[in-house]
Amino acid sequence: MARIAITGGTGFVGIHTTRALAAAGHELRLLARGNRGGPRPAGAEWMRADVVTGDGLADGMRGCDAVVNLVAIIREKGRQTFARVNAEGTANVARAAAEARVGHLVHVSAIGVDPDPRYAYLASKWEGEQAVRGGTVPFTVLRPSLVFGPGDGFFTVLARLIRLNPVVPVVGDGRALFQPISVSDLARIVAICIERGPSRAVHEVGGPDQLTYEQIIDIIKAETGRVRRRNVHVPVGAMLPLAMVFEKVLPNPPVTPGQLRLLEKANVTSPDAVVSQFGFEPLRFAENADYLHEY
Ligand SMILES: NC(=O)c1ccc[n+]([C@@H]2O[C@H](COP(=O)([O-])OP(=O)(O)OC[C@H]3O[C@@H](n4cnc5c(N)ncnc54)[C@H](OP(=O)(O)O)[C@@H]3O)[C@@H](O)[C@H]2O)c1
Repeated sequence: MARIAITGGTGFVGIHTTRALAAAGHELRLLARGNRGGPRPAGAEWMRADVVTGDGLADGMRGCDAVVNLVAIIREKGRQTFARVNAEGTANVARAAAEARVGHLVHVSAIGVDPDPRYAYLASKWEGEQAVRGGTVPFTVLRPSLVFGPGDGFFTVLARLIRLNPVVPVVGDGRALFQPISVSDLARIVAICIERGPSRAVHEVGGPDQLTYEQIIDIIKAETGRVRRRNVHVPVGAMLPLAMVFEKVLPNPPVTPGQLRLLEKANVTSPDAVVSQFGFEPLRFAENADYLHEY
């Protein structure tokens, strides 16, 4: 049994990771700005911490054997910018883990991280990842492709879009490849990483299937009984002005310009990445998309 702090433990990946680590018998401390409530496994306590200011981080990690870092944002809002949360915030997590003398930092990065400033999210995730790899705490870095499961922020948005519209807008040519991985499999991988100890390596992980954006839409249509909805291709250039207006005027825009650009970028790794590195068969999106009926 280990004592583990999970920064971002109240989020989508965090909830599932908390369950997997609790089931493995670990004692958990979830660090985030807010206590989102909801059912929480016994032995998981919440403490307030902010990766941007650093408040509460080292205190929350004190006495822990490992830290799992799951804090990041995919869209900027007010003071929560990519630079502050994904880049500097991750560096603050790495520093706090060193200060608290934690023995292992498992950092969840993302496939496609890249210093290229045209992709601001990926560039900030790249910078954060570098801070972990260049820090003093022994680490394991996981780079997942898109993560699916109840509460996800991508597939559920597409399901809603398909439900609400008579035609389905497909951004660009719809041919960019993704390799959806189930959130329960990602949580299981984190638990394996904790058990193995720091690998000091970067592990890309994805599900068994490489799917185009349009194939993902078609799977969701089939799963939710809306195969008759017609796909209409819309060039990214035509969607960008609308997304820019959404971003300016809506508190929670359905899509941001940055997210549109990400839809054109391949997000895949080897199809056997999970089997070869973690020794189990990950779930297929097409056979495990039934949760989307609720959205
Ligand atoms: N979901 C995917 O498809 C996907 C794909 C590839 C990689 N990833 C990576 O997986 C990780 C988890 O993603 P997710 O989808 O679970 O995100 P999420 O649901 O948005 O959860 C983010 C978590 O971070 C916390 N947080 C946000 N800002 C914070 C701050 N300033 N200080 C402290 N905590 C803060 C949130 O709680 P509060 O807001 O209450 O603070 C929440 O617990 C991220 O690193 C993400 O880049 C996700």
